[in-house]
Amino acid sequence: MANDLSVFLKQLILRPREISAAIPSSRRLARMMADAVPDITGSIAELGPGTGRMTQALLDKGARPQNLSLFEINAVFARHLTIKFPEVSVHNQSAQDMTAAGLNNLSAVVSGLPFLSIPLPIQREIIRASFDVLAPNGVYIQFTYGRKLPIHPEIIEQHSLSAKRFGLVWGNLPPAQVLVFSR
Ligand SMILES: C[S@@+](CC[C@H](N)C(=O)[O-])C[C@H]1O[C@@H](n2cnc3c(N)ncnc32)[C@H](O)[C@@H]1O
Repeated sequence: MANDLSVFLKQLILRPREISAAIPSSRRLARMMADAVPDITGSIAELGPGTGRMTQALLDKGARPQNLSLFEINAVFARHLTIKFPEVSVHNQSAQDMTAAGLNNLSAVVSGLPFLSIPLPIQREIIRASFDVLAPNGVYIQFTYGRKLPIHPEIIEQHSLSAKRFGLVWGNLPPAQVLVFSR
């Protein structure tokens, strides 16, 4: 299996807009995203897993591979993830289409998507699909590099979401904060 960094960098050159990050997230950021999941043994969807840094952190934290569903738009990353995590469901599908996978009652949606660079109509679809598959007390976890909330205020209001800052990882490049959104 090709190594994660070379797979990531090759796709970054081919599809810079979809990937929108110069390197994969740091292990510390991945661990903090996993720490933010309130029920790690419940069903979890991960959006935009890339080469699987956050997937690994979720599994290390105790997530059950059979309860984990990955949605990755990039076919090369999806194939890499299938080989790396044979017990995890990998969907080579866009995050906004996740409702078609028949998921429901999830405890968390963990997003590694470059949310601020995603157009507003797609952001709307991703958040709608996420809260469609989440349990009523389920959470949407998103990291962001800036200080402002990564989800547009109009979407936050539409779904009556509240945002909680879970933590900040200075050691990530660039530093990133982890936010937990719930209804
Ligand atoms: C910034 S990279 C993050 C990769 C990994 N989560 C990490 O933190 O290292 C963003 C990932 O989201 C994927 N992506 C972008 N738009 C997507 C969409 N609409 N649905 C699913 N995956 C998407 C890209 O292919 C890429 O793998």
